[in-house]
Amino acid sequence: MDLDAFRMLLTPVGRGALDEAVKILADGADPVAAASALRRGHPPDLAAAALTQAALRRRAEAKFGPDAAVMYFTPHGLEQATRPEVAAHRATRIQATRIQATGGPAVLDVCCGIGGDLLALARAGCPVDAVDLDPLTVEVARANAAALGLSSLVDVRTGDAALADPGGYGLLFADPARRGARGRTFDPMAYSPTWPVVLDLVARAPAACLKVAPGIPYEFIPEGAEAEWVSYRGEVKEAAIWTGMGPGGRRATLLPSGATLTASGAEAETGPVSRYLYEPDGAAVRAHLVAEVAALVSGRLLDPRIAYITSDRLVRTEWAPCYEVTDVMPFSLKRLRAVLRERRVGAVTIKKRGSAVDVERLRKDLRLSGDDSAVIVLTRIEERPFALLCRPVTSTNG
Ligand SMILES: C[S@@+](CC[C@H](N)C(=O)[O-])C[C@H]1O[C@@H](n2cnc3c(N)ncnc32)[C@H](O)[C@@H]1O
Repeated sequence: MDLDAFRMLLTPVGRGALDEAVKILADGADPVAAASALRRGHPPDLAAAALTQAALRRRAEAKFGPDAAVMYFTPHGLEQATRPEVAAHRATRIQATRIQATGGPAVLDVCCGIGGDLLALARAGCPVDAVDLDPLTVEVARANAAALGLSSLVDVRTGDAALADPGGYGLLFADPARRGARGRTFDPMAYSPTWPVVLDLVARAPAACLKVAPGIPYEFIPEGAEAEWVSYRGEVKEAAIWTGMGPGGRRATLLPSGATLTASGAEAETGPVSRYLYEPDGAAVRAHLVAEVAALVSGRLLDPRIAYITSDRLVRTEWAPCYEVTDVMPFSLKRLRAVLRERRVGAVTIKKRGSAVDVERLRKDLRLSGDDSAVIVLTRIEERPFALLCRPVTSTNG
């Protein structure tokens, strides 16, 4: 979809075509039938743009929920957009600091994409100036602000982040593109704009929030900054680097609850497997806060290098799902198979940390049969591979 085709979609005729396309797809028409039905009433380029947009809206529902029905997307823009729950968490944090701009609007978003973060910031009440290098993406972001009734808080323009001046704003927000010609990149030096450009912007901003991949190497985190890892429903989604927002350090945050954990200086002991096994959330693991989670459950590590915690106590915490350990054995396929057969276990959830076992291969090799289910935890204790058979804890009675 090019800029002209997208602009056509925003006209009254274009909106009509898009509504029709949405309805045709909702009725279950296949793409060829949908295209020929739309072409009966509209020129081919408008019909194609409307169908593309209608299909993107359907795909966007999983991320944007009901808002997807009025928003606009590009394929890359949708893929790269921040999940609204994560964007809202950050926007609330920014708004809560009551950053006062020196003159201009409060936030400058220098890589706004189709507006995932921009819209959340505006919804939280922050006025935002935004730029993106790609003119179509800019137009889509602007249309999204209008569709959600946020235009009065948002000004979106085409521009290069490298030329932005964050000095007049309360906070710089940057979510650099992590997708190059060869797919997704994990190397901050390959981000667009590049990491040195981003750091230069940060240095000139009174405060900043940078969205980065959760796997960002620790040496890229600027001194004095806070690095926050965020997980959503148990899956680590991203990290953000905050500057000018209080003391630095490491933070893990769980969404949707908003529970947050920072370093307390806790140190975890190691010890033998006890009755319960806890699996710390990935955000706490990435933030190196496993010892803090261990302290919450009065636990110890099974191995100093692996993020499994064991405890005699049953403590309900959203920081770590808990399992009751029924068997502990050095890893051996034969032995595991024999125990599972004896217990009539026909379904297993296999978890692993510190184990090189191929989980799908193991699942096949176990040749399970029976009505019961179990959780198998594969790990390493003092360099030796172990398998723990467990069951999830569903009640708080220990
Ligand atoms: C990861 S996306 C931003 C997603 C956005 N935060 C959201 O939630 O929708 C990165 C964006 O940066 C833009 N971009 C890349 N290099 C840029 C540059 N030098 N200046 C401005 N924007 C740039 C890309 O066009 C892309 O839209």
